[in-house]
Amino acid sequence: MALINSNPTTTAAWKKLQQHYLQMESISIKEMFANDTSRSEKYSIKWQEFLVDYSKNCINEETLKLLQDLAREMQLKQAITSYFDGENINQTENRAVLHTALRAPENAKVLVDGKNVIPEIYEVKNKMKNFTNEVISGVRKGYTGKPFTDVVNIGIGGSDLGPAMVVEALQFYKNHLNIHFVSNVDGDHVNEVIKKLNPETTLFVVASKTFTTQETLSNAETIRAWFLKSASQDDVAKHFVAVSTNIQKVTEFGINPANIFPMWDWVGGRFSLWSAVGLSICLAVGFDNFDDLLKGANQMDEHFKNESFDKNIPITLALLTIWYNNFFGAESEALIPYTQYLQKFAPYLQQGIMESNGKSIGRNGKPVNYETGTIIWGEPGTNSQHAFFQLIHQGTKLIPTDFIGFVQSLYGNQDHHDKLMSNFFAQTEALLNGKTEAQVKAEFEKQNLTGEKADFLLPFKVFAGNKPTNTLLIDKLTPKTLGSLIALYEHKIFVQGVIWNIYSYDQWGVELGKQLANSILDELKTNKIHPHDSSTTKLLQHYLSTK
Ligand code: F6P
Repeated sequence: MALINSNPTTTAAWKKLQQHYLQMESISIKEMFANDTSRSEKYSIKWQEFLVDYSKNCINEETLKLLQDLAREMQLKQAITSYFDGENINQTENRAVLHTALRAPENAKVLVDGKNVIPEIYEVKNKMKNFTNEVISGVRKGYTGKPFTDVVNIGIGGSDLGPAMVVEALQFYKNHLNIHFVSNVDGDHVNEVIKKLNPETTLFVVASKTFTTQETLSNAETIRAWFLKSASQDDVAKHFVAVSTNIQKVTEFGINPANIFPMWDWVGGRFSLWSAVGLSICLAVGFDNFDDLLKGANQMDEHFKNESFDKNIPITLALLTIWYNNFFGAESEALIPYTQYLQKFAPYLQQGIMESNGKSIGRNGKPVNYETGTIIWGEPGTNSQHAFFQLIHQGTKLIPTDFIGFVQSLYGNQDHHDKLMSNFFAQTEALLNGKTEAQVKAEFEKQNLTGEKADFLLPFKVFAGNKPTNTLLIDKLTPKTLGSLIALYEHKIFVQGVIWNIYSYDQWGVELGKQLANSILDELKTNKIHPHDSSTTKLLQHYLSTK
């Protein structure tokens, strides 16, 4: 069954939400806390190792009811069934969207065109398991008989960001292999990586769903040429493996068919870390940890699929984003993890969220008349506090923010962890409460600050507060909780796409730049500039005459 095709603004719930917004915009969240001592109890969800507190939002029971009604009117429940059942919900590419099948248990049955795909998934998983065990244990060796010490993942976008984010996030669980990532077509990137490597002990994973991506193929060719300076053509088979759906192109590139880890067109690039694209994760932390990551994601899948809307974490967070995006006019959202391990989480989700929901054509083929995908940004706390938090606290823009923190630290340095977490709790409290004039005056009094100077400073020191935040407090950063956390945001993307009536799983917008770059590359190579706008022509002339 195709997804519903209906403009969300025509639903009864949307119209009621517009009216409701007029009542809520002037209500302070702080006041709602003062009037209801059970607010945090009411607006939080405890699920496994997660405590999700969304009480510090400008919402009441009516808001949630109307948002859930909107989801119902946009037939979210049916859409979830279509998503998990492998129906062709990615209609612009005529594909299913089945990253969830990659983490389903072995006895599950997921049909694509009438065929159960679970046995193939497990075949590839077993291949990954055997391969990684051999590399980690040193049984599989390089061309001079030495065990591998380094692995380079060559990929870009979803074939880079997911593995790079998870390898960084699970550093604590890592083995002895050094994992590197080459993504940018900038030749300085690849050179900086290979300059530290020994070809005898380095394994290269070329990850590209399509195996046509310019950046990845250029980097793979450059690396193969560098490798062949010290090794022979026959040695390539020992050192290069590929992850792709395009077996023919991989074989043409010269990679041994036995070294190909297949994936499928129903896995979107930005959701592919659960597939063989996760091979570098597996090599970094071992298959069992990789499998725990998948199990954690599967548990979130089950929660999302089966839990009622009011206790459903991805649905609740998705509806809150819609509330701010479509009714308050908020344009961006910040993601602030209070762990350095998640420093690549926001960049990873920038692709996940912005490539998915950065769309302006509705499922009816017409331009939408409402806002869709939000701008995503963020950095770990506490670093971000000393960088851009000023704007969140006192700027003119509304920036709903997710705070993600962990009860336990991994090395157990309690003093540091308490300091870190005191900041985590303090920020959402400060964003909620702000600082009143009376509080600032009381502070001035204590400091004996009076007169003109005090009057002058007063307005600058007052914080309005009333800034919405969600707090995701998780017991500990483990492969399993990380899997659940990533899956949570994946499902949030899905819910928003369904309600915004857009296709979340294509990315045609990225194609235009690629096509233009190819034709400009031709001009740069042949030194013949074709007609462009005058700015582009001048820039190209300058480049060609000075390079
Ligand atoms: O940026 C566009 C895109 O198609 C992404 O969606 C994808 O993750 C990336 O390019 C890389 O594609 P591939 O894995 O096919 O090399």
